[in-house]
Amino acid sequence: MPERLAVYPGTFDPLTNGHVDIILRGARLFDRIIVATLINPEKSPLFPVEERVEMARQVFEPYPNVEVDTFDGLLVDYARRKGAQVIVRGLRAVSDFEYELQMALMNRRLHPDVETVFMMPAEAYTYLSSRLVKEIFALGGSIAGLVPEVVETRLHAKQRTG
Ligand SMILES: Nc1ncnc2c1ncn2[C@@H]1O[C@H](COP(=O)(O)OP(=O)(O)OP(=O)(O)O)[C@@H](O)[C@H]1O
Ligand SMILES: [Mg+2]
Repeated sequence: MPERLAVYPGTFDPLTNGHVDIILRGARLFDRIIVATLINPEKSPLFPVEERVEMARQVFEPYPNVEVDTFDGLLVDYARRKGAQVIVRGLRAVSDFEYELQMALMNRRLHPDVETVFMMPAEAYTYLSSRLVKEIFALGGSIAGLVPEVVETRLHAKQRTG
């Protein structure tokens, strides 16, 4: 049996507990899952890619079948290069669906042998996004329980150093 390898792509700027939820579900389902951090998102990121990767590596240190990597360019090309059969995506609400459907079908057209698998997070995370975390934090609201501790610490450090 070939190893079942999944890729979970995203910007992870920063990693939230919603992402962590999906990644841990993936880690139970597949032999290995790679958290593929997009190097140059169109949106200029709050955290440089090195820092996003560092935080994710810390969070998943206890999980030997979760890897953290970076990628650039076409996701399906990256998946093929890694030998992954599956792309994992998270679905929060109907609002995610249209964009995700479009991406999944386009990726299938580009590489029919890579399958996209969708997973729903725990209910508590269905309204959670990196954008919202950044907004709440910038306005002085509490983000406890929304992001891993290492992310919260780094956000506070960033705020202090400007
Ligand atoms: N709370 C969540 N629950 C389930 N899936 C999620 C959650 N947040 C993001 N995802 C999924 O994770 C993948 C990567 O998303 P992305 O990096 O854009 O995160 P995001 O939180 O949506 O960030 P942003 O607000 O910057 O768009 C996508 O498939 C997205 O649907
Ligand atoms: Mg998003």
